[in-house]
Amino acid sequence: TNSEKIYKGLAGVVADHTAVSKVNPESNSLLYRGYPVQQLAAQLSFEEVALLLWTGELPTQEEKDEFIALERSHRALDSRVKAAIDLLPLDAHPMDVGRTAVSVLGANHPQSGDSSPEVELRKAKELFAAFPAVVAYDQRRRRKQEVVEPRDDLDYSQNFLWMTFGEEAPEEVVDAFRVSMVLYAEHSFNASTFTARVVTSTLSDLHSAVTAAIGALKGPLHGGANEAVMHTFEEIGIDKDETREEAAARAKTWMEQALAEKRKVMGFGHRVYKSGDSRVPTMKQALDAMVEYYGRGELMGLYDGLEAAMGEAKNILPNLDYPAGPTYHLMGFDTEMFTPLFIAARITGWTAHIQEQRADNSLIRPLSAYSGPDERSL
Ligand code: CMC
Repeated sequence: TNSEKIYKGLAGVVADHTAVSKVNPESNSLLYRGYPVQQLAAQLSFEEVALLLWTGELPTQEEKDEFIALERSHRALDSRVKAAIDLLPLDAHPMDVGRTAVSVLGANHPQSGDSSPEVELRKAKELFAAFPAVVAYDQRRRRKQEVVEPRDDLDYSQNFLWMTFGEEAPEEVVDAFRVSMVLYAEHSFNASTFTARVVTSTLSDLHSAVTAAIGALKGPLHGGANEAVMHTFEEIGIDKDETREEAAARAKTWMEQALAEKRKVMGFGHRVYKSGDSRVPTMKQALDAMVEYYGRGELMGLYDGLEAAMGEAKNILPNLDYPAGPTYHLMGFDTEMFTPLFIAARITGWTAHIQEQRADNSLIRPLSAYSGPDERSL
């Protein structure tokens, strides 16, 4: 009965300006503050990319040194966060653990009520520094292993892997991890970033916005897809002893059946990119490096088999989560830890958007077209 045009899922709606990143589906490109993400992934540390996203410019040496010192001094697991996590069951989903940890960090923050730009940037940097310890602690407690203290002679990516696995990761692994962080950092008005902006638009605080964003990221249509990709591989069955060809054939059969059952296969398709996700080639290179490093070619049989079968049947291409899932698997993370790694990376983009929303705020409050019963009396 209502004639307003409905933009279901807000598809195609331009909700605001942003200077943080530009997604261009026509040219399959993604720019952070004007720089192609492939170049950033090839040349910069994740710490430098974080500063670029927050400030809009590449950092000077002085800005870099200052941030690195702050980051290294805020890496230890907060005692209240540890206590809160310890109250949760060992098999609590790591996304629930991560969401709870950010909420506790917010409640604990001495300046929780101060959302001035300087304090907010500081909160973003502290959260960036503090979150890896949450992921590392949760991964280790699931395996009944002792906490590993951070090391301030290591950079962000090296230290993340150190705290998680208790040994220094080889250069190849650190590099693939750093690339994944850079690629996951930012992607315009995706569901979780938009969530963070909606919360910020009410003049709520940064930790509330990030906590809500984590809730949005958890779902398999968004960040949860990297975990779901690995569950697909597990469902098909990973067999280290088979050849690439054998694995590809099993993957193809599985995909044909999944599509015949009208299942959605996570890791494929994208709301914005319809002819390929700009981040996939770079992430695929990182995955190839890990496959070679760990000598696990058979995994790529599954990978190629699924991709080819999806392409043939529906012409739908992989998104970033498709190569990221098996990359994290090869590094040794539990499958359930993959989406918390996405949180660690996206904290940068979310907090850059929170700053931007606050700087030029308008309450985000759309309308709805009523479709319930006409007015009636009791
Ligand atoms: N598997 C099977 N069919 C699919 C898939 C898929 N992954 N993606 C799209 N389709 C089909 C869909 O069934 C529909 O077919 P039909 O027109 O016959 O009903 C058609 O393609 C259009 O799909 P849609 O879901 O209406 O398109 P959308 O723009 O709303 O979807 C999407 C985008 C990402 C939600 C969807 O592609 C999807 O569910 N993919 C799987 C989840 C996933 O991998 N998400 C990660 C997104 S990217 C990175 C991130 O944010 O983490």
